[in-house]
Amino acid sequence: KTAAIIGCLFSGGGPRGGVEKGPVHIVEAGLERQLTALGWKVVFNGYHKFEDMKAEGGPPIGNLNNPRLVSRVNESVAKTVGSHESQGYLPITLGGDHSLAMGSISGTLSVHPDACVFYIDAHADINTPETSGSGNMHGMPLSFVLGLGDKIPEFAWIKSILKAGRLVYIGLRDLDTTEKQILHDNKIKAFSMHEVDKYGIGKVVEMALDHVNPNRDLPIHISFDIDALDPSVAPATVFPVRGGLSFREGRYICEAISDTRLLVALDVMEVNPTVGDEAGVRQTVAVACSLVRSALGETLAKL
Ligand code: ARG
Ligand code: MN
Ligand code: MN
Ligand code: MN
Repeated sequence: KTAAIIGCLFSGGGPRGGVEKGPVHIVEAGLERQLTALGWKVVFNGYHKFEDMKAEGGPPIGNLNNPRLVSRVNESVAKTVGSHESQGYLPITLGGDHSLAMGSISGTLSVHPDACVFYIDAHADINTPETSGSGNMHGMPLSFVLGLGDKIPEFAWIKSILKAGRLVYIGLRDLDTTEKQILHDNKIKAFSMHEVDKYGIGKVVEMALDHVNPNRDLPIHISFDIDALDPSVAPATVFPVRGGLSFREGRYICEAISDTRLLVALDVMEVNPTVGDEAGVRQTVAVACSLVRSALGETLAKL
């Protein structure tokens, strides 16, 4: 078993910088060594800096911020993720802002068209360019991979489309009204923090699997936004929202999916080492590494 670390030093999909420093902190915390200790072979070919992709001007596209740069970067991420998966490697895409899910999920779908996506986030990241109030593309990756919204020629490289029934959310608690409407109109399954409180995380993961993966035979892509976790657990992120997942709930989701042996790709996004104090950053980075280890089979809490 081989994992490939894809560290994406990118913040062009968010409102301000800082998240581009996330991957370096996570790698320097010893992620490679930790995964090796779990019995994985780890491929890490250096960071993706996208330096040759500086956005050139061109006319604005709707209200989108940095659309051309976000498109280029994600097309490249999709290729990298896809090529690792076609070699049988498990890509671990480290962000960076969550617009990168556009590329990572597209990459997975290019190799596993039947894959389902677990999107673990406080936010739904499903605005279309038409519904987004901010224009920030980290709030939109899912509308692009689902093929919602007006078609934009710049993003024509997004070929493989995720069916709405193959997407499930856990951890939601801060949605725009427009996003609630999109979830409703497309009948997308979502377990908000309200459902996590109501049913408990064990039942929620089981119901989520039943919805997107009833026969437990489809490949699974996890896209984990660190802000799904409570700010007391993972403070170093740009959009902290009170009332999030506990550390154990976050780990449990990863452990339960690891147990299915269906995981083909993992994203850990939105760790921002420029937010808060050093202890908070260290803790957030340690938690991010722990999530990766649990998705890759670490079972410390199991007898
Ligand atoms: N819904 C808001 C927007 O569209 C916030 C999105 C936050 N997303 C994130 N990846 N942190 O701008
Ligand atoms: Mn979020
Ligand atoms: Mn919001
Ligand atoms: Mn997100």
